[in-house]
Amino acid sequence: MDVRAIVHDPAAGLRLTDVPDPDPRPGELLLEVRAAALNFLDVAYRDELFGPGAVPGVDAAGVVLEPAADGSGPPAGSRVVTFALGGAWAQRRAAATADAAVVPDGMDLAVAAALPAAGVTALHAVRRLGPLLGRRVLVTGASGGVGRYAVQLAARAGADVVAAVGNPARASGLVELGARQVVADLADVTTPVHGVLDNVGGPLLAEAFALLAQDGLALSIGQASRQPTTIDFERERRRGGGRRLEPFTVPSGIGPDLAVLLDLVERGRLDPQIGWRGSWLRADDAAQALLSRQVPGKAVLEIG
Ligand SMILES: NC(=O)c1ccc[n+]([C@@H]2O[C@H](COP(=O)([O-])OP(=O)(O)OC[C@H]3O[C@@H](n4cnc5c(N)ncnc54)[C@H](OP(=O)(O)O)[C@@H]3O)[C@@H](O)[C@H]2O)c1
Repeated sequence: MDVRAIVHDPAAGLRLTDVPDPDPRPGELLLEVRAAALNFLDVAYRDELFGPGAVPGVDAAGVVLEPAADGSGPPAGSRVVTFALGGAWAQRRAAATADAAVVPDGMDLAVAAALPAAGVTALHAVRRLGPLLGRRVLVTGASGGVGRYAVQLAARAGADVVAAVGNPARASGLVELGARQVVADLADVTTPVHGVLDNVGGPLLAEAFALLAQDGLALSIGQASRQPTTIDFERERRRGGGRRLEPFTVPSGIGPDLAVLLDLVERGRLDPQIGWRGSWLRADDAAQALLSRQVPGKAVLEIG
């Protein structure tokens, strides 16, 4: 049987067509997708990550059609949110039960779909910085999907959050989410920071690294600028201290972290910040809006 899906067509962009029904492996459930997120990587790295004819999308929420054959995970009929590398922008997707979590009753599936890649990344990155009570944390690309989760979670962990955005218009809502200071220019940050959560890379990461306190840690989460960084390590050597920089990735098996985020959302302690929501027939519009930095937070496609 075929299902409807959006596929990556290098010549025509995103195209709705029929693809074969996914064939789940033993540890995977089959999901009827109701909502799927559109992440930066789904759009900017489509050629590298998803070849021609492949179905993009990593985050999807919906209803379990078939539970995993190995007996793991939730039964048929459960509402779940899932993560897998590709296949989310389709009426059905297969996903490992280790990367799935049950969505609380009453929670909008579009809200759940906004959580996996961006939310779990922010959760892990904030934890990686260690204890944050009373410490300063700089979040770059704070206006975007990962950034808005990182601001909220770092603030919730007790940090004084400095949120960096591309221009003042992109700052909307960040103070309400917990940022102590919002800047459109890192020259306005005059006190060192304990940690950097960097989503932008390029020259901005070099500027952010220069703001680290002596034992500070910078995590390179992403490179939305698509430019390599330009840190002057000779200057750093002369400055002394033990500042560190780590490329950051999230391991697989994120189901328990998804459950943590779902719980925070359900208790009103985390806002998924859906800045674009619409039919999957408008996936190209959503992709354009995301790449042109017009989405405050997450973009979510309604699938059906
Ligand atoms: N390491 C991991 O496991 C992991 C997981 C998820 C995402 N990522 C990466 O993290 C980065 C952020 O992801 P995201 O989902 O938050 O993306 P997003 O929602 O598109 O946000 C990216 C932010 O970066 C800023 N930016 C600066 N220069 C940009 C440029 N040239 N093009 C686009 N944005 C630019 C924008 O803020 P302003 O408009 O305010 O400047 C934008 O809000 C991406 O590089 C993504 O691939 C990594």
